[in-house]
Amino acid sequence: MANCAVIGAQWGDEGKGKIVDWLSARADVVVRFQGGHNAGHTLVIDGEVFKLSLLPSGIVREGKLSVIGNGVVIDPFAFKSEIERLGAQGVRITTVNLAVAENAALILPLHQELDGLREGAAGDSKIGTTKRGIGPAYEDKAGRRAIRVCDLRDTDSLGPKIDRLLTHHNALRVGFGVEPVDKDELLGQLKEIAGFILPFAVPVWRLLDDARRAGKRILFEGAQGVLLDVDHGTYPYVTSSNTVTGQAAGGAGVAPSQIGYVLGIVKAYTTRVGEGPFPTELLDETGQRLGERGHEFGTVTGRQRRCGWFDAALVRQSLKIAGVDGIALTKLDVLDGFEELKICTGYKIGGEVYDYLPAGMDAQAAAEPIYETLPGWSDSTVGARSWADLPAEAAKYVRRVEEMIECPVALVSTSPEREDVILVRDPFAD
Ligand code: IMP
Repeated sequence: MANCAVIGAQWGDEGKGKIVDWLSARADVVVRFQGGHNAGHTLVIDGEVFKLSLLPSGIVREGKLSVIGNGVVIDPFAFKSEIERLGAQGVRITTVNLAVAENAALILPLHQELDGLREGAAGDSKIGTTKRGIGPAYEDKAGRRAIRVCDLRDTDSLGPKIDRLLTHHNALRVGFGVEPVDKDELLGQLKEIAGFILPFAVPVWRLLDDARRAGKRILFEGAQGVLLDVDHGTYPYVTSSNTVTGQAAGGAGVAPSQIGYVLGIVKAYTTRVGEGPFPTELLDETGQRLGERGHEFGTVTGRQRRCGWFDAALVRQSLKIAGVDGIALTKLDVLDGFEELKICTGYKIGGEVYDYLPAGMDAQAAAEPIYETLPGWSDSTVGARSWADLPAEAAKYVRRVEEMIECPVALVSTSPEREDVILVRDPFAD
């Protein structure tokens, strides 16, 4: 029995959705373990596009169990609307194919509002969040005042829990000059949504233990990427959860030894949404060309993504932190037709050369990339399913990336379609 974890190795949007979907054909259970409906995973299946934010990517596959772990923050209203939206596309979601951790913390409307209020008041120092309430919900979880899924079972005890939460939030709201939250209104909303989410609520740790003992294969699906990790990312321009592999254990309720093969998802160039440092960002025509060719618009917010050359120094750093065994290189076809390509090998910061990005915000902002230039290719890589299908220079680019990041390529994805993959090593192979 082998399990597998999928981790984004850049700033998210590496194309994890397609790879998780592809891998889920080999898995029995797909588990999300962090983040919330800030994630945006796009799956293209037989030409039909499925957009997922909160639900695990395995949900569109028949016969798979999808699980939302305790490390995820769940907006129950967004949960309902995503299930209804997918239902309208013919994806049947019931308690047979979806389970939710009863100990997961909820995102409430007041979290989303606070996220927006803070971003609005921050001026130039805004984070550029997805405004889904992710940060405020994780703060309440760590502050021990969150409402959790299991709390919805006992509406009598919900009142005092809401009081505790509102003592904190209404003070903040006064500071922002907005109306306090009305307790009865919030209680009413929660009572109404409880009936929808509660049937899915189970002790996920136990369900996963049963799955393990039955020899089932588990796929752990990360959201965002290592550079958005609250500890290891480009802080403070990060999300509010740990996105690294270790979180798969804590955020699902399994032992670290259960995680298995760690697959890092790496885009063949770099993108970022939101604010924060981005040493290889291209603010010229080349950046625009990458964005257009790669359709680089956010799945969740529709924001245009910032684009730049591949940063091997940052990816190497991410892969080491996340303990990645092999990578899936995605969107190689976006580089088709460039005369030459650059790869960042390190940085100059204040006259010193670094082969990694130091943690300080000022140092990160000052980092100037050091590049190696490689020849491009004019033929198409779209739909390639073997090395022989790749132009020679494209294969060389992949090999050079592999050397620089000090990690082998397990898969190369060559189009959004599910089956357009060059497989070097099956992550689920025993
Ligand atoms: P938050 O997660 O909404 O608090 O946003 C914090 C930062 O993470 C912002 O820069 C967002 O753009 C970024 N972010 C959050 N989720 C994703 C994602 O799924 N893909 C890419 N960036 C994300």
